[in-house]
Amino acid sequence: MKVKQAEFVISAVSEKQYPDDALPEIVLLGRSNVGKSSFVNTLISRKNLARTSSQPGKTQTMNFYQINDMFRFVDMPGYGYAKVSKKEREKWGRMIEDYLHNRQNLSAVFLLVDSRHEPTEDDRLMFDWLVYYDMVPVVVMTKYDKLSKTRQRKAKDNITKTFGIRSSDVIPFSAVSKTGKNEAWEVIHTAIGYEGD
Ligand code: GTP
Ligand code: MG
Repeated sequence: MKVKQAEFVISAVSEKQYPDDALPEIVLLGRSNVGKSSFVNTLISRKNLARTSSQPGKTQTMNFYQINDMFRFVDMPGYGYAKVSKKEREKWGRMIEDYLHNRQNLSAVFLLVDSRHEPTEDDRLMFDWLVYYDMVPVVVMTKYDKLSKTRQRKAKDNITKTFGIRSSDVIPFSAVSKTGKNEAWEVIHTAIGYEGD
């Protein structure tokens, strides 16, 4: 899909703030600093529509971005950021769960994990939780450019094994080299029933 229009809609913390229409939504989940906002910016070829930061844990709200008036990305607050209080973390957890449980617009979930590391305990919990509730995510391995060729292959094997998924359900991704951009778009096209290029 050629992106002609991409706009920030709202930074929401609760259900009553969600956009009130039937547009499909594509959700980005992953730990803090993994590259969720960069993933959105890369797909839509904008430098900074989704705010990126070198400061982990900065995105504390659910940010909705509308693309071509056809679908929205929902950039979720990152989990697993140690410096946030337990109370704060529980609040985010509830916010994300509320969305995932109740939102009719939900069309696909990307779970982003860092290529350079083993999936964290939080990554595994998130994955299992999604599978349990029948929202099998497409796993995106971020920052792939930071790995050597040998480590890239090992990392991919490791991810498929850890989550027990097929290699075709994992997208190696880089906001720098744009690896995986087309594959991610294909997932979105399928999820929203788009049949153009
Ligand atoms: P929070 O909103 O804090 O949860 O973070 P986020 O998941 O949205 O991560 P963000 O996109 O802000 O990226 C965090 C940092 O990683 C930034 O400094 C990005 O420039 C960097 N980064 C993201 N993706 C990539 C990538 O594919 N390659 C490289 N080399 N750096 C990346
Ligand atoms: Mg972010």
